[in-house]
Amino acid sequence: MDREKAMLKRVIALGQMMTEMKDTDMLMERILTEARKLSNCDAGSIYRSEGKELLFSYTQNDTQQKALPPGKKLPYSAFRMPIDENSIAGFAAFHNTTLNVADAYNLDQSLPYTFNPAYDLLMGYHTGSMLTIPLQTTSGKVIGVLQLINALDAAGEITVFNQEDLPFIDFFANTAAVALERADMTRLIILRMISMAEMRDPTETGAHVNRVGAYAAEIYEAWASKREIPETEMQHNKDLLRVAAMLHDVGKVGIADAILKKPDKLTEEEYDTMKTHPYIGACLFRDSASELDTMSMEIAIGHHERWDGRGYPGYIDMADGKPLPGKMLPDGKALGKTGEETPLWARIVAIADVYDALSTRRYYKEPWTQDDVFDELKRSSGSHFDPELIEIFVFIRDAVQVIRQKYPDRQD
Ligand code: C2E
Ligand code: SIN
Ligand code: SIN
Ligand code: FE
Ligand code: FE
Repeated sequence: MDREKAMLKRVIALGQMMTEMKDTDMLMERILTEARKLSNCDAGSIYRSEGKELLFSYTQNDTQQKALPPGKKLPYSAFRMPIDENSIAGFAAFHNTTLNVADAYNLDQSLPYTFNPAYDLLMGYHTGSMLTIPLQTTSGKVIGVLQLINALDAAGEITVFNQEDLPFIDFFANTAAVALERADMTRLIILRMISMAEMRDPTETGAHVNRVGAYAAEIYEAWASKREIPETEMQHNKDLLRVAAMLHDVGKVGIADAILKKPDKLTEEEYDTMKTHPYIGACLFRDSASELDTMSMEIAIGHHERWDGRGYPGYIDMADGKPLPGKMLPDGKALGKTGEETPLWARIVAIADVYDALSTRRYYKEPWTQDDVFDELKRSSGSHFDPELIEIFVFIRDAVQVIRQKYPDRQD
């Protein structure tokens, strides 16, 4: 009974925490981490529903994580399976039912589903027991599937999932589904805001801002781990950054299409106009009070500053965008901010943004090879970028590739 009480308390506290989280990717990470703790299992995945298919969206695997150097992320690629009776995850989603499987490779022949070894093949892993739970929202919609793999006993041996824990895990999954749906909504609203304003070609907008948000969150997490930032503070900031970084270029709504979509190099005058986008963006968050607004403003205004002070817009007055008194240079522009005068969030997004600009096709340029991009970033360490953050970015190169795959541009 004590165990049940503790479990219930835990699940309720988690529900509270999840309600506050704003970002989908972060939420999936949290949901899987906590579900795995509740059930004590080695691995797990989250599938998201997309029409009549399940998309393998997120995974954790302790055994394989341990084989990697600290701080490295598991590489994985997305795959899809139909929502039907033929696979375990598909069946759970199709019938909105939880399946507790003792041994994936020894399923009863009379069952309609067979084990799909895609995950094992992809991860080089052996699945034994498996608990598969639909993620159902209050309106009854199944927005995905939570799959927990290889429950472990006290000795660390694979065992079956405890039937008595199921009500708690089901309840947890329900709360998780509601939080996920809300986070999806936040992101959708942001993406709509951006494409509504036709800041760019709507087909590429979503992918670019999602990538920059995801790269930024990844860089911050690695930085925080190196600096030994406490876990809760790290999670909190990472969640905010994931969203705020997506808004770095909202100021481009104020730039005419003729400049924004010019297929050539900009003239000096056009480039000067372009350079007003950090200020235009920051104005959107100027007199707001929330933590997310403050971070969004710091990123919008600071993402084109440089470590050596040769970036823009520098020390300007937020009331009119003009150089602050005493901060005007002979050419009439404002003195740039140097080093840590630019907040960490903006220094992180500067790297994520340039990395993405160089890696992908733009109206005005072709994509570069990954080696060329990394060489350019390393070359710009200490001049354009914070050297500590560049070192971290190079270290997480594999995780960066995973994100790049996850949010491809339409035309690529
Ligand atoms: P963006 O396309 O998102 O690019 C962000 C940043 O990536 C650029 O900031 C720059 O620091 C870096 N970057 C992009 N392409 C290159 C490149 O070919 N070489 C190098 N070394 N760095 C690159 P920046 O320069 O302040 O530009 C801000 C925005 O202005 C760009 O955002 C883009 O929308 C626009 N822009 C800049 N140059 C051009 C251009 O020649 N033609 C057009 N049409 N737009 C431009
Ligand atoms: C399945 O649910 O049948 C496949 C799940 C997995 O590949 O792990
Ligand atoms: C510039 O730094 O003048 C523009 C770089 C570019 O995006 O081509
Ligand atoms: Fe920008
Ligand atoms: Fe950008």
